[in-house]
Amino acid sequence: MSKTISGFSKKTKAEKIQWLTDTFLDGDKSHETTLKKYWNEDTTLQSLHDDFIENTLSNYYLPFGIAPNFKINGTLYAIPMVIEESSVVAAASNAAKFWLSRGGFKSEVIATEKNGQVHLNFFGNKEDLITYFEWVKPKLIESIAPIQKNMQKRGGGLLSVELKDGTHKLDGYYQLHATFETLEAMGANFINSCLEQFAKTFEVEAQKFAVFNKNNQFPKVVMSILSNYVPHCIVRASVSCSVSELTHHDCDGKTFAKNFVRAIEIAKVEPYRAVTHNKGIMNGVDAVILATGNDFRAVEAGVHAYASRGGTYSSITEATIEGEVFKFWIEIPLALGTVGGLTSLHPLVKTALQILQNPSAKELMQIVAVAGLAQNFAAIRSLITTGIQKGHMKMHLMNILNQLNATEKEKKQAATYFKEHNISHREVVNYIETLRT
Ligand code: MEV
Repeated sequence: MSKTISGFSKKTKAEKIQWLTDTFLDGDKSHETTLKKYWNEDTTLQSLHDDFIENTLSNYYLPFGIAPNFKINGTLYAIPMVIEESSVVAAASNAAKFWLSRGGFKSEVIATEKNGQVHLNFFGNKEDLITYFEWVKPKLIESIAPIQKNMQKRGGGLLSVELKDGTHKLDGYYQLHATFETLEAMGANFINSCLEQFAKTFEVEAQKFAVFNKNNQFPKVVMSILSNYVPHCIVRASVSCSVSELTHHDCDGKTFAKNFVRAIEIAKVEPYRAVTHNKGIMNGVDAVILATGNDFRAVEAGVHAYASRGGTYSSITEATIEGEVFKFWIEIPLALGTVGGLTSLHPLVKTALQILQNPSAKELMQIVAVAGLAQNFAAIRSLITTGIQKGHMKMHLMNILNQLNATEKEKKQAATYFKEHNISHREVVNYIETLRT
């Protein structure tokens, strides 16, 4: 039986599921039941979700939770988070509460510049290309006037466009490097439209340029696309308190602060640790980005590139002890939007933004950076004191109990029992089996 199909996207949802069941699921109808179980009864809502992508079969739930008690620049927030990892929201809430009584988080946007490139091939004389660029630059800018009219009215738009020589990296490689201010929008559509217009104008006008004609050497566009590397779209979030305020269980403040700073020093110099360290930060960052309908893949790619900007992958958080004062901060590139994309389409995204009091893109950058910093604080605090497994397994206990279809009574009994005993998958299975015999 052939496993290929053409015209698949034109089939109805039921036909698609039928084909999938017959072709890849041995005709097992239970998967169809599962896929359909997640359809929303509200057909308008379901069709909204169906239309987000092609070939939608069902919805894939992730928990939407809230981490309350975040004080950021004096304002209190409850931060919506969408994530599957059991300990993340608990850790964020914990860190928020901890810093609430120590002045809260401070956050400031350092810069909001986005960028994109038109990548070019040119194998002629570099000086000719430079002369051409200077001549064509006003025409390039003029050609995007209709695209940036509204953005400019609001105070944004193109900031600069330059010709860059990349021939030391790749033979014949040049680029138009453009920078933009996109205000409340993440700006991907706006930037890509501007770049594609630049590309068209650049090639068309080149046909009129005498020197290119004389030598029969024209610049050619390879591609035009925004960059998700945004080292000039940066937000900083920080916390600070006296060392003595860091006492945690039986760990005194001074020891805690020293070990905390040491943990960060290790993540600064050791990429194996830095990746996990930053992954923990991204637990908080991605969860808020998902809840607010932003593009977590773009942010992930940009953050990890930023973490490598010194030539070695490194921590994006820092900590110091200056006299009696402990300081802990993050600087993170975040290209976010509060308009456009999913923000106006997904009802839960609208709710998430409303929970955050409809932030501007800059405010959202500050909130997301704080979520990342809080997550990193909670992770390092566990790592240098109790170890990570204690908290993780506590949250994981519920997942295991649910897998075992534990009743409410069994869950309560297990929660009490595992306060005093180490949690592992095997131990929980054994315990439930004992209860049931
Ligand atoms: C787990 O999702 C994240 C941590 O591993 C982060 C870290 O080690 O810093 C706990």
